Amino acid sequence: MKIKYATLFFCILAMISSQLQAQLKNEKASDAKIAAIIKKLTLEEKIGLLHANGIFSTAGVDRLRIPGLMTDDGPLGVREDVKEGWAPANLTTDSATFFPNGSALAATWNPELAYRFGHDMGEEARARKKYIMLAPAFNIARTPLCGRTYEYYSEDPFLNARLAVQSVKGIQSQHIAACVKHYALNNQEVERGRVSVDVDERTLREIYLPAFKASVTEGNAWTIMSAYNKLRGNYCSENEYLLNKILRGEWKFKGIVISDWGGTHSTVKAANNGLDLEMGSRPPYKNYYFADKLLDSVKAGKVSQQVIDDKVKHILWVMYQTSLSSNPPAGALNTPGHSKTAYDIAAESIVLLKNDGHLLPLNTGSLKSIAVIGDNATHNFHLGGFGAGVKARYEVTALAGLQNRLGKSITINYAQGYSGVYRPSRTTPDPETKPDSAMIAQAVAAAKSSELAILFIGGNRDYESESRDRKDLGLPFSEQTLVDAVTAANPKTIVVVIGGAPYDIGKIKKNNSTIVWSWYNGSENGNALADVLTGKINPSGKLPFTFPAELKDSPAHALDAYPGENLKVEYKEGILVGYRWFDTKKIEPLYCFGYGLSYTDFKYSDLKTAQTSYPAAGNIIATVRVKNTGKYAGKETVQLYVSKEGSVVERAEKELKAFKKIMLAPGATANVTLSIPVKDLAYYDVKTGKWIVEKGKYKLLAGTSSRDISETKMIKIN
Ligand code: BGC
Repeated sequence: MKIKYATLFFCILAMISSQLQAQLKNEKASDAKIAAIIKKLTLEEKIGLLHANGIFSTAGVDRLRIPGLMTDDGPLGVREDVKEGWAPANLTTDSATFFPNGSALAATWNPELAYRFGHDMGEEARARKKYIMLAPAFNIARTPLCGRTYEYYSEDPFLNARLAVQSVKGIQSQHIAACVKHYALNNQEVERGRVSVDVDERTLREIYLPAFKASVTEGNAWTIMSAYNKLRGNYCSENEYLLNKILRGEWKFKGIVISDWGGTHSTVKAANNGLDLEMGSRPPYKNYYFADKLLDSVKAGKVSQQVIDDKVKHILWVMYQTSLSSNPPAGALNTPGHSKTAYDIAAESIVLLKNDGHLLPLNTGSLKSIAVIGDNATHNFHLGGFGAGVKARYEVTALAGLQNRLGKSITINYAQGYSGVYRPSRTTPDPETKPDSAMIAQAVAAAKSSELAILFIGGNRDYESESRDRKDLGLPFSEQTLVDAVTAANPKTIVVVIGGAPYDIGKIKKNNSTIVWSWYNGSENGNALADVLTGKINPSGKLPFTFPAELKDSPAHALDAYPGENLKVEYKEGILVGYRWFDTKKIEPLYCFGYGLSYTDFKYSDLKTAQTSYPAAGNIIATVRVKNTGKYAGKETVQLYVSKEGSVVERAEKELKAFKKIMLAPGATANVTLSIPVKDLAYYDVKTGKWIVEKGKYKLLAGTSSRDISETKMIKIN
């Protein structure tokens, strides 16, 4: 038996080593090919490869059959084609699957779904001949006001990294380059093109860089987008420290550094400090920093030929992984499988915030009538928000989803309740809407004449958008007035809030019995929502960020460190971002990080570790028993946090270090195993520039959210 295992082991080893050798040989082959091509290119042709020649494209070199690069947005699916000036190209071939937004994906806490999202979007990109997807986007949610919170994932670097790596791997499995963005610290939209971030080194390393690092070192991302803002006085697109030292030097990045659109500010500095490709959407492209000006700078000896050759090498290398790859997958657009992925993400992302009256799941057997109220019940979310729009082949709205699932047996009385039109302009940057008494009266009538009311409120893709932050956390469109009126008319009111970022729903939490949180949830949005409301799907989403009770409780706002002064923003809260701040400072949030209920209950017990002490190079293996004590089958995300008391450096009260999503039948129990490499307990030491694992005691905390911890266990690191 032993011999058999040994033979098997050696066979596997031999297989892996021959695969590695083949890969190395391929790489060498393409390295040699690339070197040969570079020799043949004229300087003018090389420069032609380093800047845009259209909104999403670059020129190739026909003479040598080098194609141009074709990029496309973005995080929610492959966007529609546009003409110069961003006008839609009005094609009939450019619709795509609309995948749930970034924070929805993060709320699934399911890296497998992140992989499927990437895989399917990559397949669509390939079918549409877009070889670089400008996704995923995962800047840390430093302030809940950031207009792009919905595109991004989380306030937590660990959750962020786990999802980012899988999204990248999924996209690139289709020989399509992921372009991870925005590197780095684009945590606000206010003055994003001019603001300089001042962040201490430890915070940079522990909070803002981990997902980028993991995307490159584990996910092997082929391209990265530099952010619009500055870090410590230097634009990210010409930042020697971020690009040359960290990205290429420490992380060994081999691919293309792409500027954000119009985010290049110099020729010589950007060229020498690590930018490869200047993108933007405004012609004339020959006036770009990396066009004629770069040619002149090379001729003047300010940028070396070698620097140019390196950039060309990065570009050709990515082409060999993508548009010029051997045996590329076929690509496919709008398949039932892609719809299923969009549905599965949506279904696992929806967060049950409150279910005190047990109105949910709906008792569809006895219900005869429901009122469906609110603009968000019929609103589409696929377009809007600049870069992140998708021309969806279809989108099932919440009302359509309920009609699909219940329409035959239950009368649905719809009332719009409010208008969700939001059109900021230069003269009115923040248009206010007043409650519409006629619409409210119709909503009240619908609620009164139905057994139960479901209210769909929240934001939309015009209200939450790239290029501006929200001014506060308040619900838009006077929605609270509508909620109050409908709830008074029918106490059996379920409030479904749709948004991509935290909102102030404190009054609803106080006055309403039932609250569901949903997102800009993709093509299958309404079907997934209806299935959660009717209990076909047991909700399992968990919040990927803290909902503060008040904006001023949030760290950047508590310290008056947003949006900065004189175009400088100092990240005064340091490492205490998100729940790290709320926990350490003992501030009660409205809803905490990791929170989300289920129709069933889970009981945790018996947290154990394989050993009581571990060496610095070890791997902590923890198991916790989880029992489904309710009557519904359901998924639970087991969260494992670590706390270090008496540390030599400032520490957050606890930090997420592992999580696992499991499925349990009613009454079933599982022993859930989670592992934490001891090196993940390290802090970044600013004096030595090294990651240091402190010796001594650590507490492991297992629970269903960051604040509902039921099991703890001490371990020691020797
Ligand atoms: C955004 C990027 C986007 C690009 C192209 C920029 O304004 O910041 O995320 O990929 O536009 O649409």
